[in-house]
Amino acid sequence: MNQAVILAGGQGKRMKAPIPKPMFKVLGEPMLEWVLSACEAAELSRICVVTGYESGQIETYLGDRCRTAFQAERLGTGHAVMQTIPFLSEEKSGSTLVLCGDAPFIDSDTIAQSLERHIKEKNAVTVITANVEQPFGYGRILRTDSGIAGIVEEKDATEEQRKINEINSGCYWFRTADLIDLLGKIQNNNAQKEYYLTDTIAIALQDGLRAGAFCSQNPNVVLGANDRKGLLKLNTAARMAVLDKHMDNGVGFSCTDGIIIERSVEIGAGTEILPNVILRGKTKIGANCVIGPNCVIENCTIGDNVTLNAVQAYDSQIDGDVHIGPFVHIRPNSHICTGAKIGDFVEIKNSTIGEDTAIAHLAYMGDSDVGKNVNIGCGCVTVNFDGLTKSRCEIGDNSFIGCNTNLIAPVSLGKYAYTAAGTTVTADVPDYALAIDRGTLHIRDGYTLRKFAKKK
Ligand code: UD1
Ligand code: CA
Repeated sequence: MNQAVILAGGQGKRMKAPIPKPMFKVLGEPMLEWVLSACEAAELSRICVVTGYESGQIETYLGDRCRTAFQAERLGTGHAVMQTIPFLSEEKSGSTLVLCGDAPFIDSDTIAQSLERHIKEKNAVTVITANVEQPFGYGRILRTDSGIAGIVEEKDATEEQRKINEINSGCYWFRTADLIDLLGKIQNNNAQKEYYLTDTIAIALQDGLRAGAFCSQNPNVVLGANDRKGLLKLNTAARMAVLDKHMDNGVGFSCTDGIIIERSVEIGAGTEILPNVILRGKTKIGANCVIGPNCVIENCTIGDNVTLNAVQAYDSQIDGDVHIGPFVHIRPNSHICTGAKIGDFVEIKNSTIGEDTAIAHLAYMGDSDVGKNVNIGCGCVTVNFDGLTKSRCEIGDNSFIGCNTNLIAPVSLGKYAYTAAGTTVTADVPDYALAIDRGTLHIRDGYTLRKFAKKK
């Protein structure tokens, strides 16, 4: 069985935060997640992540998704892989892919194609390489007529070797049994006094084993970040790649300012995304919508022909032909049904808003089931929390809730129920009934004239 080892022990000192480098995010996901998902897309399910700096953060993130091995001291990439020998020894029959947890753009095609080459050439080790214009800092690939002779690190390289543009991506396929054997032979007699994983290549060749290189067509496989500026570059590359994909699918952008769309988001053709829109998680947007400006949408399913203007929406469903905004907050577990209209300064939480219902301005609907074709007037509030428990309100189809109505939950209004403006509803209202709650209105003529006369 084939398996993967991901090296994720690094700190990233120049990031200036107590976070392991692979946990820094590119387009909303830790770099480690990008690497893991590339492995999973290449059908590698047996994975061990080597941790080191702030290992707990990575362990918490991974949960029981895969194994981890702790490297107590940072003595080099070879030493890091040595920590996984117990894991490797459990399954020696296939090959092991070693990758860096802080190079997010490795892709499943590169993984699959390099494995094919690795097996076909019967290599003990196959290095995934890339040709780059600026090889500074990377290990250089030493080629011979028949294959490769080894990898030399920047700090150990001669002037001539530093001119080589083919570099080590930091990803390799090893025959697992050979890897275990080779790890036992690595020494640390080099410029950095580290156990270099890259030395396994020259050692394998000395032992009469075969070593090869697979040059990836994806030049981004090597990209990593050492500081915040580098991380911004990775984010920009990932962001533009996602926008390109959506444009190919018929999604419109007339300006990309402030638009951040995570890789998992789906958008239908004909939809227009306006500036300052952040689309996160498992969000799915239909066709012919206008989203933005100024929206944050996370884990929402949105139908066709929807407009969202200055809306924040989380973990909710918005059906087709719905118009929302500006300045609306849709909190988790809400369902806005077809044709509903929600206007400015409205908050909806854990509620269903029925078909063609209108909530035009300044209202809070929490823990409520609002029927079809209801009109919620300005300033209406569901009073869903009594300080101890949350309760639900129910509003029947075709009801009309007058301005400034308070519905003290739990309370249920039937169909075609009306409430008069300013009413506080504390009891259920039957079908076709009006709830009206009015104190006596007193008018005192000349009141202010008397008040100010006294003051003088
Ligand atoms: C390494 C390669 C280099 C390659 C480059 C690609 C070696 C000796 N050199 O260089 O040829 O071009 O990657 O990016 O392998 N790590 C640990 N524990 C350690 C050391 C490193 O977990 O003791 C992890 C790091 O967190 C990182 C990965 O291994 O994820 C690579 O380490 P890094 O220090 O970046 O290696 P480089 O010196 O850049
Ligand atoms: Ca590196």
